[in-house]
Amino acid sequence: MNLFHRIARWLEVRIGVGELVERELTGYLLPRNINPWYSLGSILMTAFAIQVASGILLLIYYVPDADKAFASVTAIMNNVPFGWLIRLLHAVGSNMMVLALLLHMLSVLWMGSYKRPRELNWLTGFVLFNLVTAACLTGYLLPWSQLSFWATTVATNSVGAIPVIGQQLVEFLRGGKLVGAPTLGRFFAMHVAVIPLTIAALVGGHLFLLKRVGVSAPPFGKEDSRNRWQGESYRYESHPGGISFFPNYLLQDLTSICLYLACLMAVLFFDPYIFFPREAFNPANPYLTPAHIKPEWYFLPNYQTLKIFPSELLGLAVQGGAMTLLALLPFLDRGDERHPLKRPLFRVCFWGGILLWLGLMVWGHYS
Ligand code: HEM
Repeated sequence: MNLFHRIARWLEVRIGVGELVERELTGYLLPRNINPWYSLGSILMTAFAIQVASGILLLIYYVPDADKAFASVTAIMNNVPFGWLIRLLHAVGSNMMVLALLLHMLSVLWMGSYKRPRELNWLTGFVLFNLVTAACLTGYLLPWSQLSFWATTVATNSVGAIPVIGQQLVEFLRGGKLVGAPTLGRFFAMHVAVIPLTIAALVGGHLFLLKRVGVSAPPFGKEDSRNRWQGESYRYESHPGGISFFPNYLLQDLTSICLYLACLMAVLFFDPYIFFPREAFNPANPYLTPAHIKPEWYFLPNYQTLKIFPSELLGLAVQGGAMTLLALLPFLDRGDERHPLKRPLFRVCFWGGILLWLGLMVWGHYS
């Protein structure tokens, strides 16, 4: 008996590993018509792991002090061996993760997987979406560049438009009247501890729900396009005759992950500064307002919405309303049909929403 078999037998006697492998891997069946869009969840977990690993490495040399932060990031880029790679991996990785997140959301929308009984999968996902963007926002301040300083000033300013508590909220976020050293302290704590730990816990919850409810079958092909489960009692959606998670689906998932990593590397090596405007290379100066200060591409639609309305409050209210509608979507769109081609109203809203979002982004970029 070789060493591998001896270890397997030892574990089998103690924790019944054979039954575990059968239930969770080889015997865990997924729909036969599953498509590559389902890999976006695993891609997101990989992306999150990359952010955590590169973030921990950055922490070795980064100094969260308003007087030293910019110099510490410059040292990481110029003096620390492979520091540039780790820093760019973290910065580019965050943008790619947001892109994967948006695609995951869009695929779940298109295939109607948010519908009953997966309302909780959607809601945990929605909170995850907000947390990931909050991680990006807090991380943006840490290099303490002109971009960091002024983008945070603009973003926190807009909160002031909320009636009654707005101004207190701005001061609470900034730790004072203006963006300064206390803001860096609290954004740092949120970015490296509070937000990542909450994301990790919520991803656990998201996966727990997935295992309890079962993966949805894509509403295409021979499979029934409606939700199969209509009853009032709990039921796991199984896929008899489906493909096994191990090795079949895992290989498909790994292929998609490799493709994602290839895209990440392509950006990293061929256009590493694509997400860095000029102001990112100058240290923060509270006395010098740059002529053009724009947020990251995924915040451009929010930025432009605030600009087109006559009052910031109205702009905030419209965005809050849109986000609330999106969060409550599974409770508003309650029909059984999941096939997108059989849901005309959904298709209008889906493509209309994407065009509006992209339009606002382009407008925000050129305005
Ligand atoms: C860090 C962020 C996220 C991670 C790591 C993650 C991970 C996953 C994984 C691994 C799956 C199972 C495979 C798949 O269908 O892709 C999944 C399914 C799902 N996710 Fe996410 N997700 C995230 C964010 C989101 C967001 C933002 C939403 C929507 C607002 C969402 C909604 C869903 C739904 C409804 C399913 C069930 C799909 C089905 O069973 O067909 N997730 N997620």
